[in-house]
Amino acid sequence: MTSSLLLLLLLAAQTAAADPVNNTGTSFIAVFPENIAYYHPTNPQNQIWVTALYNATTVTVSPTSSTSSPQLSVNQSQSFDLDQELMRNLSVEAFGVSNSVVNITSDKQIVVQAFSIKKKSVQTAVLVPTDKLGTKYFIPPVPVISGTTDDPNVNVTERSPFRLIIINPTDTNTVTVKGSAASSVTLQPGQVSQSWVPNNQVPRWVEAEKPIAVLFSHPCAMQTNCTCGLLTAMLPPARNQTVRFPVPSVLAQNASVLLSDGGSREAKPFNPDSDSAVVQSSGTAILYRPGLLLTLIPETEFASCFSIFTVPSKTNFAIIVVLKDSTSGIYVGNSLLDAAVWQDLKGTEYVSTNYSLTQNTVIWHNSSKMAVYVVGYEGSDWFGNPAPVISTTPDYRGCPVNAERLTVYNTSQGWRESLQSCQNLNLDLISLSESRLQRHVCLKLQQDSDQKVWIGMRRSSKTGNWYWLSRAPVRDTNWGSGEPGRVDEGQCAAMSVRSNCTWSDEDCCSAFQSVCYKEADYLVRIN
Ligand SMILES: *[C@@H]1O[C@H](CO)[C@@H](O)[C@H](O)[C@H]1NC(C)=O
Ligand SMILES: *[C@@H]1O[C@H](CO)[C@@H](O)[C@H](O)[C@H]1NC(C)=O
Ligand SMILES: *[C@@H]1O[C@H](CO)[C@@H](O)[C@H](O)[C@H]1NC(C)=O
Ligand SMILES: *[C@@H]1O[C@H](CO)[C@@H](O)[C@H](O)[C@H]1NC(C)=O
Ligand SMILES: *[C@@H]1O[C@H](CO)[C@@H](O)[C@H](O)[C@H]1NC(C)=O
Ligand SMILES: *[C@@H]1O[C@H](CO)[C@@H](O)[C@H](O)[C@H]1NC(C)=O
Ligand SMILES: *[C@@H]1O[C@H](CO)[C@@H](O)[C@H](O)[C@H]1NC(C)=O
Ligand SMILES: *[C@@H]1O[C@H](CO)[C@@H](O)[C@H](O)[C@H]1NC(C)=O
Ligand SMILES: *[C@@H]1O[C@H](CO)[C@@H](O)[C@H](O)[C@H]1NC(C)=O
Ligand SMILES: *[C@@H]1O[C@H](CO)[C@@H](O)[C@H](O)[C@H]1NC(C)=O
Ligand SMILES: *[C@@H]1O[C@H](CO)[C@@H](O)[C@H](O)[C@H]1NC(C)=O
Ligand SMILES: *[C@@H]1O[C@H](CO)[C@@H](O)[C@H](O)[C@H]1NC(C)=O
Repeated sequence: MTSSLLLLLLLAAQTAAADPVNNTGTSFIAVFPENIAYYHPTNPQNQIWVTALYNATTVTVSPTSSTSSPQLSVNQSQSFDLDQELMRNLSVEAFGVSNSVVNITSDKQIVVQAFSIKKKSVQTAVLVPTDKLGTKYFIPPVPVISGTTDDPNVNVTERSPFRLIIINPTDTNTVTVKGSAASSVTLQPGQVSQSWVPNNQVPRWVEAEKPIAVLFSHPCAMQTNCTCGLLTAMLPPARNQTVRFPVPSVLAQNASVLLSDGGSREAKPFNPDSDSAVVQSSGTAILYRPGLLLTLIPETEFASCFSIFTVPSKTNFAIIVVLKDSTSGIYVGNSLLDAAVWQDLKGTEYVSTNYSLTQNTVIWHNSSKMAVYVVGYEGSDWFGNPAPVISTTPDYRGCPVNAERLTVYNTSQGWRESLQSCQNLNLDLISLSESRLQRHVCLKLQQDSDQKVWIGMRRSSKTGNWYWLSRAPVRDTNWGSGEPGRVDEGQCAAMSVRSNCTWSDEDCCSAFQSVCYKEADYLVRIN
């Protein structure tokens, strides 16, 4: 008993560790770098947007102008207005440490985006939960932006260089900027440090003892009629392998890619008509085009379900990148995306499309992984970011908000005892009433078992008819040849994983292992 429980725990732990990263969490921290618009002071509209994945989710945003913490239901979004700017109370040239952060916490998992809108300038960012942040980030090279300078001594706001904004969420932390302009700062929980990135000093990376978030930002990177617009990108944490980033051609007009990792650092112009649509790095890869800094999504971080936020009164669209042979099976909410026009990504197996968005929604794939960006514009001013990931594992049923639980209970015992053992784990002896679920479960079981196992089906002692514990109708049956036999040959159903998961009737007192299961909760579910 003890040993089987231990095994179960180990199995669970391994599954959890193998889960690639999503953007759902219960604790987030945000800053709003000042969106200066130097010559036309207007207050920015700074907002945090939250989407709940479960019913009865309580969200707290601090500091906030509203007094109550709202309770949200599944798929409900709520925006919070924030009268908060990183540097409002500091002189714009005086750099250093600030306490102007916004904490977002909840009692169940949520996804969070930050928005800063000031006239035509829109900035959006996906927040990474504090428990999924990294400790090392490569600093990209600074793009050349006309009308700006690299010299911090000029002391004119819009002519200042790029900035590095380092947010320390939870523990007292020492943060070091490495490279030719090395420096180090100790930050308390909830503190932010802001510093210049003059390109000639070549800062290479930021490293901290505890996890941090790092933003790369310029307060006046876009200019219209002598008014400044902010550009900000969240840097991705350093990776320990080189990964490939497919670049969607829709975005690559007049673009360059800013690359930085342990070995190299370059800002290279990107021509979608002649260059291969893939760049490689083990660190940061950011697409820059006038008005937009967009963190690129590597192949290894493709996912299967995304939460989509739209900015009111702007043109919003999603850009989807997927393997050529996986363009079917993409859903927007409950509807299949079928009339898309796909464009090849030169020199790759990928294609991309753009999809016009009119409201917040969920985009998911029923059988493979993809990359989704949410971008938009008004006039020539662009904004955008990678869409927040809800799930990384494709599921034919919809968009799961947690992982399904499938476990072989490896004590051999009778059917009735197996039922009880699953219940003790808060799971059910599995009901397999649908052929797609049968295939899905069989493939998973074959990875670590070839046993005969109890499933949640038996005969009614009154009528002799087979029924599922879930009360689902008995159809799509998968009996082995000659099965089931007569009523007196067996009252309970077992499944032989080795024999293509076919079923047989067995004496309920025979001893077999059993399959315990609980399906995921879904944000969108189609079957
Ligand atoms: C969530 O709440 C809505 C209405 O408040 C209800 O219809 C729905 O069944 C609930 N969903 C879950 C998973 O409990
Ligand atoms: C910022 O300055 C305003 C007035 O200039 C003041 O009311 C506010 O309390 C200050 N905020 C902080 C965090 O110091
Ligand atoms: C700009 O500001 C810095 C620090 O505030 C100061 O050291 C420098 O002399 C100033 N430069 C000019 C040209 O005023
Ligand atoms: C945010 O959270 C940090 C760490 O828990 C805390 O030190 C800080 O005071 C909080 N700030 C606000 C504005 O709530
Ligand atoms: C720039 O200013 C002129 C004159 O005030 C105005 O007509 C024009 O629409 C402005 N352009 C933009 C892009 O805002
Ligand atoms: C780096 O790679 C090693 C070996 O592949 C792996 O064990 C480790 O977890 C990786 N670390 C990170 C931070 O990804
Ligand atoms: C690309 O740059 C050229 C020259 O600067 C400009 O004429 C053109 O409109 C730009 N295209 C886009 C899509 O921004
Ligand atoms: C995914 O959806 C497509 C289009 O409806 C369908 O042809 C395919 O069978 C689905 N895949 C799975 C695994 O359900
Ligand atoms: C989106 O795709 C359509 C059809 O391919 C194209 O006409 C349109 O220009 C695209 N939109 C953007 C913003 O690229
Ligand atoms: C997302 O990650 C969390 C761990 O932070 C995990 O508990 C959750 O199951 C993941 N969601 C999905 C759909 O796998
Ligand atoms: C296993 O069963 C599936 C249907 O459940 C069937 O399509 C497949 O051909 C079977 N494979 C073998 C080797 O019998
Ligand atoms: C989720 O909410 C959005 C509005 O925010 C709505 O358009 C969409 O249909 C909802 N999706 C589901 C599956 O309820």
